[in-house]
Amino acid sequence: MTLKAFMDEQIPLLEQEMYSQVTRLTMPENLKESMLYSLKAGGKRIRPLFVLAVLDLFNKPLQAGYEVGAALEMTHTYSLIHDDLPSMDDDDLRRGKPTNHIVFGEAIAVLAGDALNTLSLGILANVTGITAEKKVELVQLFSRASGAEGMVGGQVLDIEGEQKQLTLTELEQVHINKTGALLRFGIESGAVLADATPEERAYLNEYAHHIGLAFQIKDDILDIEGTSEELGKTAGKDEASEKSTYPALLTIEGAHKKLQEHYDLALAALNKVDNEATLLQEIAHYIVHRNK
Ligand code: IPE
Ligand code: IPE
Ligand code: MG
Ligand code: MG
Ligand code: MG
Repeated sequence: MTLKAFMDEQIPLLEQEMYSQVTRLTMPENLKESMLYSLKAGGKRIRPLFVLAVLDLFNKPLQAGYEVGAALEMTHTYSLIHDDLPSMDDDDLRRGKPTNHIVFGEAIAVLAGDALNTLSLGILANVTGITAEKKVELVQLFSRASGAEGMVGGQVLDIEGEQKQLTLTELEQVHINKTGALLRFGIESGAVLADATPEERAYLNEYAHHIGLAFQIKDDILDIEGTSEELGKTAGKDEASEKSTYPALLTIEGAHKKLQEHYDLALAALNKVDNEATLLQEIAHYIVHRNK
């Protein structure tokens, strides 16, 4: 099956899972509206797609993947709501719509982010049809990927990297954490659900490492080469905030070269897995060639 057909078939099911997880909860109405506003604003749904693509790689049923994928996309969405706050990147456009704090105010935006993130943990603890051991492993991996040793830690390094020149190694560390960690969880959680062997997990993690870096390098390139209309978020923001990015450090040509290098290394890692990893190859291609 092509990636396009897979996405057309699977993303609506994933979204249905995600929205129903929020809709069925009892909470203040404006909080629910704010959570659903950012979830429903769209987005590429790449992270849950990884969970499902890894299950597909091992010919496993996708059901648990919708739940884990929904949890992951919720935490990713929370990270975007907080990333856009005035105290962070101060953005007013996201997924083609006014940012959450512009519509609901800062306090509700912060709290909607908190609520999405904590809901994720509850979903992971309740994934249907898997052992308690697997649930614990998912929660552990997720906590590491999303917290101080992962996305949150990376966001701190990103903010501290403004107005100063990081080395390439330091910048890699920012990208691996702020963006790579949640993408990697998508792949790793799929491998846990699919009972991948330690060897298969190691190859998939190698793929995840390179595709995570490629993803953020491309994001940095698009910030320069894309338009706000195409991206659904404000273009040119990185230069205006003097962010440390691959293009800023290596020039735009150097950034394109690094992007290609990591893409090639990601594909090379996939070649070591016995099964035909067509979907994961196609997702890598999509990440490198996307225009938003
Ligand atoms: C944007 O992520 C933030 C980064 C980590 C670069 P995405 O590019 O996946 O954003 P959506 O989910 O499609 O809106
Ligand atoms: C965000 O990186 C990474 C997150 C953890 C949200 P960016 O700040 O570059 O993401 P965009 O460009 O605003 O989507
Ligand atoms: Mg940011
Ligand atoms: Mg940002
Ligand atoms: Mg960016």
